[in-house]
Amino acid sequence: MRENRTYWEQLAPHRPGEPLEFFREGGSALTEPELAAIGDVRGRRVLHLACSVGDESLTFAQRGAIVTAVDLAPSHLTTGRVKAEALGLPVEFIEQDMMTLDPAITGFDIIYISWGGLCWVPDITQWTQIVAERLNPGGVLVISEHHPLWEVLTVRGPNSLSISSDYFGTHRDGYTDPSKAPQVTQRIGTPTVPHRSYIWSLAAVATATLNAGLTLQSLQEFPEPDLYDGLGEQASHLPATYLLTASRP
Ligand SMILES: C[S@@+](CC[C@H](N)C(=O)[O-])C[C@H]1O[C@@H](n2cnc3c(N)ncnc32)[C@H](O)[C@@H]1O
Repeated sequence: MRENRTYWEQLAPHRPGEPLEFFREGGSALTEPELAAIGDVRGRRVLHLACSVGDESLTFAQRGAIVTAVDLAPSHLTTGRVKAEALGLPVEFIEQDMMTLDPAITGFDIIYISWGGLCWVPDITQWTQIVAERLNPGGVLVISEHHPLWEVLTVRGPNSLSISSDYFGTHRDGYTDPSKAPQVTQRIGTPTVPHRSYIWSLAAVATATLNAGLTLQSLQEFPEPDLYDGLGEQASHLPATYLLTASRP
């Protein structure tokens, strides 16, 4: 976790997220499928895990939610605080390891994680239990992520793929396929510090969710041809992302 934190601290200054104008002009960091699945957030308490600079937190807050956002990397949180202040949005940014969340961070109606957040969870069973405990009865867990199948497939050319990781394995040290690493590394290079991320199969995520006592509400898979850049037409025949919602009874 310490190494992952150092890794992210080295990337964070180069990841500002959306500019202020994006939010001022009504842009949403939450996607249409996410907004449709989550519904009205006015007055609801939201916990955003592995929030990075908290762009989705800002959108939740603009829509009237009361938002707490946590991340391991202090520089990401600083950027988020500056943006929230400039926009006049009361998002609380807290430095936390999501695997050892402070017990005071609890009582949420929505717990949200997205786009390269879940792959930093070292134990999906433990994580889902922590999350379930922090939800209010009737509260909802929302996972909006890269599809684990996408994580293991590498585009070799038009209609050509190879398998670069193990769908049924768990951890990976670094990235065999650089296109799966945080996008910013393509611009600034890879920090030399070791970093370990994880691939959680859909079955692993769904099973952990059910074992934590949550009720599965929806599970959708989406194509996203841009994520299979260079594959050609077939890119739309594969899942690239998924969206899972589960509620606490
Ligand atoms: C790819 S970003 C998250 C997605 C975000 N929507 C984005 O694209 O910027 C991954 C984030 O996870 C954070 N992270 C990694 N491990 C964590 C942990 N154990 N607890 C909390 N945050 C963690 C990193 O600091 C980083 O900000």
